[in-house]
Amino acid sequence: MTHENPSRPLVGEDPSMKRVLRIVDKVAPTDSSCLILGESGTGKELVARAIHERGNRRERPLVPINCGAIPENLLESELFGHVKGAFTGASASRQGRFELAEGGTIFLDEIGEMSPTLQVKLLRVLQERCFEPVGGTRTVHVDVRVVAATNRDLEAEVSEGRFREDLYYRLNVVEIQLPPLRARRSDIPRLIEFFNERLARTRRRSVAGFTDDAMTCLAAYPWPGNVRELENIVERLSVFCCDEVVDAEDLPPKILKRGGGNDEVPVDLPEEGLDLRQLLSTLEEKLIRQALERTNWNKNQAAALLQMNRTTLVEKLKKRGMLNPDE
Ligand SMILES: Nc1ncnc2c1ncn2[C@@H]1O[C@H](COP(=O)(O)OP(=O)(O)OP(=O)(O)O)[C@@H](O)[C@H]1O
Ligand SMILES: [Mg+2]
Repeated sequence: MTHENPSRPLVGEDPSMKRVLRIVDKVAPTDSSCLILGESGTGKELVARAIHERGNRRERPLVPINCGAIPENLLESELFGHVKGAFTGASASRQGRFELAEGGTIFLDEIGEMSPTLQVKLLRVLQERCFEPVGGTRTVHVDVRVVAATNRDLEAEVSEGRFREDLYYRLNVVEIQLPPLRARRSDIPRLIEFFNERLARTRRRSVAGFTDDAMTCLAAYPWPGNVRELENIVERLSVFCCDEVVDAEDLPPKILKRGGGNDEVPVDLPEEGLDLRQLLSTLEEKLIRQALERTNWNKNQAAALLQMNRTTLVEKLKKRGMLNPDE
């Protein structure tokens, strides 16, 4: 199924992606807040756009803001605007993103990075649909749909006291969990084809095809950077193997490396440090997969092998999109 969004289609036919696309269709025409979860590069922004463009607010703006990229003191005025003289340098009053999104949708990207103070202010907007610009006393009322995204485990952030529970529930009216690419490998060939065809159209540069060997390597690689990483590789190949059939040797070494060497867990902390959260998540997934394969996908036995409850295992599988939608 290719979601024929006019500008940026969402490619995905794996059952886990079909489920996502069904939720997008259901939720788009409502005004419900959505929380999009998923690792980096899984398509969270694309899904946010699809929700807006398929909804009733599509004629109005979609205003994105990356809450992780803006320092806290600036973020408040970015979101809510400020009055003249509110702080040094505020020589004129300025509208915030909420006002700019009036009638449309605001996309709060990397919401997990928001400071506790701003979380309180955001909660009020979600509850009362109003706020005061920085330094101002006038209350501004807005009609804005809120779509938020994060690659953090927000539920864990809540239980560890870093993210407000009340805000979490306000945002999470509809939760959309994007599966990592390695949990929907059947989409890899069609994503490659999609990106290759798009490059042929837009850049007049594409590859003629892939040998079976090359495709096997691409399908087996764990794709820690998900769809974004895949998109970059296809673009790189379109440059170096333009109009050629790509063979395994043409692939970057990390992809060519077979037999699991590419997601080996380093035991020593590398010089440059490492992303512990990502690493533990990869390790967990690897062991879960091994337990399932060893037990022929018998979840009771696999859970026993991992010394965890069956329900805990099923939760983890759901989170990773490793379950069939009707399971
Ligand atoms: N299902 C898909 N079909 C087509 N293109 C996709 C799909 N998913 C992701 N992409 C493409 O992959 C790239 C990354 O997607 P996107 O920016 O939406 O990811 P993200 O989850 O927001 O990542 P991050 O957490 O790093 O911000 C984009 O260029 C996007 O167009
Ligand atoms: Mg993003």
